[in-house]
Amino acid sequence: MVHAAELIRRKRDGERLTRDELGELLLAYARGDVPDYQMAAFCMAVYFRGLNGAETFALMDAMIRSGETIELGRALGRKVVDKHSTGGVGDKTSLAVGPIVAACGVPFGKMSGRGLGHTGGTLDKLESIPGFRVELTNAEFLGQVREVGLAIIGQTADLVPADKLLYGLRDVTATVDNVSLIAASIMSKKIAAGADAIVLDVKVGDGAFMKTIEAARELAQMMRELGRHADREVVCVLTDMDQPLGQAVGNALEIRETIATLRGEGPADFTELVLAACAHLLALSDLGIDEPSGRERAAAAIEDGSALDKYEQWITAQGGDAAEQSLPVAPVVRQVVAEGAGFVRAIGAVDVGMTALRLGAGRQTKDQSIDHAVGVRCLRKRGDSVVAGDVLAEVHARTGESADQACAEVLGAYELGADAPSSRPIVLETIA
Ligand code: URA
Repeated sequence: MVHAAELIRRKRDGERLTRDELGELLLAYARGDVPDYQMAAFCMAVYFRGLNGAETFALMDAMIRSGETIELGRALGRKVVDKHSTGGVGDKTSLAVGPIVAACGVPFGKMSGRGLGHTGGTLDKLESIPGFRVELTNAEFLGQVREVGLAIIGQTADLVPADKLLYGLRDVTATVDNVSLIAASIMSKKIAAGADAIVLDVKVGDGAFMKTIEAARELAQMMRELGRHADREVVCVLTDMDQPLGQAVGNALEIRETIATLRGEGPADFTELVLAACAHLLALSDLGIDEPSGRERAAAAIEDGSALDKYEQWITAQGGDAAEQSLPVAPVVRQVVAEGAGFVRAIGAVDVGMTALRLGAGRQTKDQSIDHAVGVRCLRKRGDSVVAGDVLAEVHARTGESADQACAEVLGAYELGADAPSSRPIVLETIA
């Protein structure tokens, strides 16, 4: 029998716990034998004292053992690549990366989550497509990845159930932003879902969990370390989340931007990140090519239309209507106009994310329903010069009142100044 109070005390006092102790505690919690209040105290002890690499691996390993695993690679007879982002504002990268990678002949089967707080979730974005099904059985999922080369679904309840419980607890006990807890949470899901090689997009900045490049590096190193222990290749890209990614923030708006990007007409920062992620994924795949060739193939899949064809095939296979005209449209669209001249020095990512959330694009509690049509489009980005009267952004709203409020908030999120800001690439660093 696990003695939870004793393990909490030892971690509180900065002691190291063994693999067996951590495994027993976590699995007992997943079974309901350790109550939330003890696990919350344990997470707080970890928050202050940390876990070393071996302890983090033990936690991740127990999380994987708390549920089912999927042998995607064995079922397909192929090496399976996956990508994950630590979460940001306007982050629709997987939606564009999936079709491009699949169009290049590499199977892409991914389990994604929903958004909470100022960050949107991939599943919520996909559900703005009429008819799209995010819940497939394991057999349907495997069948679709085999036939179409691409499926993105919701994480099944049987996959890492301990993470689901623990994440919910951390969310309400101020213990989310600990490097070991985040790393174990993310990597347990990637490994349980069958990935052989993983590209991790670690967001850095105002709109991300990791506010500084140093913190992002630490998380990246920890996830690579976990991957190495589990015999998985991991490449981390540290990317800018000091302003929203691309232009669109909001579910259907982000699907439109994905389609535009697959057509070769996407915003520059988003297109660059998509190509960088695809290049790494293709280089990690069993195609036997290097990263520059991966990038060339990804760009060619956009250029020759095969990525867009794959997108349509995928959406249709999951029951959705792939036509852009079928996406929901907000009844009120208002422009946010610059009051003076200058350079866009910053756009608060959290501010824009929170405005989109208040418009109805996100949820403040787990069970809230969302409005797929609404959101914000940031038409001018950091470094752009504007004169008074130029349109900075667009607000897509359900009512005139919510649009007025959102326009004021978005204007407040834009910082204009006389000097151009120093340029900051979307990919800040790659750790491979
Ligand atoms: N994303 C996850 O999946 N888990 C965390 O702990 C944080 C971000």
